Amino acid sequence: MSKEDKFNEAAQQIRRLSVAMFALFIALAAILIYVMADPNLSALQPTTEADLVVRNDTLLDSPDYEKIENGVHVLTGFVEGEGLMTVVNNCTNCHSAKLVTQNRMTADGWRATIDWMQETQNLWDLGANEEIIVAYLAKFYAPEAQGRRQNLTNIEWYELKD
Ligand code: HEC
Repeated sequence: MSKEDKFNEAAQQIRRLSVAMFALFIALAAILIYVMADPNLSALQPTTEADLVVRNDTLLDSPDYEKIENGVHVLTGFVEGEGLMTVVNNCTNCHSAKLVTQNRMTADGWRATIDWMQETQNLWDLGANEEIIVAYLAKFYAPEAQGRRQNLTNIEWYELKD
């Protein structure tokens, strides 16, 4: 092999390597951008029925509209109880039921949230249903008992010796 051939071969290898590196870099950048846009990788998660059917219009058409399983309204995840369907009918039209069920509030807290939605989000006047809804939410989505112990007070700190 002449000196020139050797040189050409080496140059070819470097070229191939840089193309491979470049491709790898592009692939990594694409993955990074995707993860930034969709950190939960939701496109890869299996969708459950509750994810799909969260809106009232879809709910009403569903054969499972009133279906309860293990004490939970299947399509929304709301706990079974008095007022359930009033809540389903009024609180799943604009957002997922999860936005409701992930919250815990007192009756006053729920009332304030409803007022806020009425003032700023076009939530309609709930009329007599408001008290039914607030009673349901305050009962089943009440603030939980204090889960953590209180911070300690009056601690006597001592110097660490080395
Ligand atoms: C007319 C549309 C509409 C209806 C109906 C509606 N909401 Fe909302 N709600 C909103 C909007 C808009 C937001 C803000 C959503 C967001 O931040 O992504 C919201 C937010 C919330 C939040 C989160 C508030 C916060 O501080 O993060 C809760 C809880 C909630 N709604 C409960 C309810 C309940 C309970 C009902 C039934 C009485 C209900 N919503 C019905 C429009 C509505």
